[in-house]
Amino acid sequence: MIRLQAVSKSYGTHQAVTNLDLTVDEGELCCLIGPSGCGKSTALKMINRMVEPTSGVITIGGRNVREMVPEQLRRGIGYVIQSIGLFPHMTVRDNILVVPRLLNWEDGKAAARAAELLDLFELSPAQFGGKYPGELSGGQAQRVGVARALAADPKILLMDEPFGALDPINREHLQNQFMAIQRELRKTIVFVTHDIDEAVRLGSKVALLRQGQLVQYTTPEQLLSSPADNFVKKFVGLDRALKRLSSLSTQDFLRPAAAVTLSISPEELRRQFRLLEESQCARYLWVIDENRRLLGWIDATDGGSGVTLKEGLVEVDPAEMTVKENYSLKHALSMFVQQGVVCLPVVDDQRALCGEIRLADVLQS
Ligand SMILES: Nc1ncnc2c1ncn2[C@@H]1O[C@H](COP(=O)(O)OP(=O)(O)O)[C@@H](O)[C@H]1O
Ligand SMILES: [Mg+2]
Repeated sequence: MIRLQAVSKSYGTHQAVTNLDLTVDEGELCCLIGPSGCGKSTALKMINRMVEPTSGVITIGGRNVREMVPEQLRRGIGYVIQSIGLFPHMTVRDNILVVPRLLNWEDGKAAARAAELLDLFELSPAQFGGKYPGELSGGQAQRVGVARALAADPKILLMDEPFGALDPINREHLQNQFMAIQRELRKTIVFVTHDIDEAVRLGSKVALLRQGQLVQYTTPEQLLSSPADNFVKKFVGLDRALKRLSSLSTQDFLRPAAAVTLSISPEELRRQFRLLEESQCARYLWVIDENRRLLGWIDATDGGSGVTLKEGLVEVDPAEMTVKENYSLKHALSMFVQQGVVCLPVVDDQRALCGEIRLADVLQS
């Protein structure tokens, strides 16, 4: 856990950060956001003592960072910046291994770690390990920068606009990759950005700064749905309803779904329809095979007319009519609109039914 208590930093008469209280829990990804010059980088750099606060206390895991030797402190904290800061005269592999070597890892362990990290970021170790930073694209270099920060498996990562220099497509790709990695590694991360879309996508919490002061510190959903004041409102933008949809996923609205297999008896099918009618909300029964793979649906209003399952089955094209758990709600909503339906089946990568998502739930949220 990282904790800043009443932390201030002034340069001469200029207050870069004023009385900042911020707690980042273990495994949390806290995005620090705000206009240029509001003190984001200064706040970040005080955590690893690249900048010393004028007043206040910063602790990591309960230990005051002032009482730690700065070099040792920094070896336990991965640090990534926009300009990457790879050493141009060192290969990709050697760049990644800077901290492990400072920590005297033996060569075999270090080499294995470099290969593992390159794999994690989809850079083939054989192809990229021996290259020099000048031979990499911007996106590749940025991946190496993040890999290097993770090399000694630090508990904490500090990231200062790490994807800021990338074009939108590379940026989104790297964001997705990074989120997948974070879901697994669960590092404690402070991530500086000036891009509200990036903050609500990546952050489990978002801290909005203005002129060195904390204005709001909450979840992305709360920031977008209940901005604390007009400054926040303006900063997150008029399209915050849409942004909120990007910050939520299908999973947040997943409901269990009633499903039947083709081998169901007519009596049982009628019973299922009755149950559906009593529940008064769902209109569809999903039809699945023995492996829970989605075949299609049957409309409950057909139930009374005595059609058999085979007659009533509407087969689905999974590309058009299904969503996955990790889809952003924005994506799911566009599918509701395109298909003109009020309920969509949610499937996994094998097309097995996991549940359903209803338009009414989304609209009420
Ligand atoms: N080393 C420094 N000397 C003097 N002023 C500085 C220094 N570093 C930052 N500042 C000032 O502190 C304020 C906050 O800077 P910074 O933390 O870099 O902002 P951000 O990262 O949010 O753009 C700015 O007004 C900046 O000019
Ligand atoms: Mg900055």
